[in-house]
Amino acid sequence: MSIQFRPITPIIGAEVDGVDLREPLTPAQADIIHAGMDRYAVLVFHNEPITNEQHMAFTLALGALETTQKNAMRSSTGDYRLPESFNDVSNLDRNNKPYARDDRKRLFAIGNRLWHSDSSFKVIPAKYSLLRAVRTPSRGGNTEFAHMGAAYDALDEDTKTLIEPLICEHSQLFSRDLIGFREFTDEERVRFAPVRQRLVRTHPGNGRKSVYLSSHAGTIVGWQLPEARLLLRDLTEHATQREFVYSHKWRPGDLVMWDNRQTMHRGRPFPPEEARDVRRTTIAGHAPTVEQQEAVAA
Ligand SMILES: [Fe+2]
Repeated sequence: MSIQFRPITPIIGAEVDGVDLREPLTPAQADIIHAGMDRYAVLVFHNEPITNEQHMAFTLALGALETTQKNAMRSSTGDYRLPESFNDVSNLDRNNKPYARDDRKRLFAIGNRLWHSDSSFKVIPAKYSLLRAVRTPSRGGNTEFAHMGAAYDALDEDTKTLIEPLICEHSQLFSRDLIGFREFTDEERVRFAPVRQRLVRTHPGNGRKSVYLSSHAGTIVGWQLPEARLLLRDLTEHATQREFVYSHKWRPGDLVMWDNRQTMHRGRPFPPEEARDVRRTTIAGHAPTVEQQEAVAA
C-alpha cells in the first residue's frame, strides 16, 4: 500500500495512511514523508501502538537526533523515566505518578502551553518533533498547531518589510517570565542564556517564507523592550488566528510529527491529577538561522 495524505484543514496538517511504524522505513518512504512534511507541516499517524524502540527507529530513518540538552528541569534532578534520547513531555514523575500541582518541574513544564517552536532557544533549533501518546487524560490536553508560512503570507506589505531584517533573542527565561515563573538559580540563568534567531525564515524544503515566532522570543536586537514585546505579541496574535490552526485531540497510539521551521504549537490544559503520557523525539536542524558568530547573544 502506498503512502497517502489526507489534508486536515486547507492550511495545515494531514493524516497519513499506508505506513506501519512497527516496520523499518525505506528510503523511498522517508522521501515521501519529508515531502509531506514540507507540504502539510504537521503529519498525524493514528493507531500506531509502538514501543520506544520503534519510535526511535522511525525517527532515525528521517534524520539525526537533536542531542543537546533535553528537558532542563528534569534532567538536572535525575527525575527521568524515559531513555535519555527521549524528551519526556508527560506530567509524570519517575514512578509514573502525576506531579503535585505545585511541583516546580510541573510549573516549568506547563510553559509549553504558550505558543512556541521547539528549541528555538538553541543556537541550532529543531527541525521535526515526533510526539507519541501512550496515555491520555479523560478530557483536554490537545496540542494545537499554527502555520507560520500562512501567517506570513497574510501579513500586510508594510509589516513584511518591517520584520524582514529583524533578529530576536530567545530564551526559556523569557517564556517562563510570561507566566510568572521567575525563580531561577544562577546556574539556570547561565544555562538558559538567550540565543539569536531571525524573525523571517525561508523554508529550505518548500521555499516559503515564514514568521519565526515562539514565546521564547523576548527581545528584538536594537529595539526598545516595550516596542519589541508589543510587536512580538501582535505577530503572535495574528499568527494564531483559528484559520491557521489545527487542534489535535490525542488518542493513545497517535504519533504526530511537526516541522518546527514552519509551525508553532502549544499544549492545552487537562485535569492535573490525570496522567498524560506523551513522549517526544526531536530531529536536529541543520544550521543556525543567523550567522554562527551572531547566534549567541552578546
Ligand atoms: Fe513543544
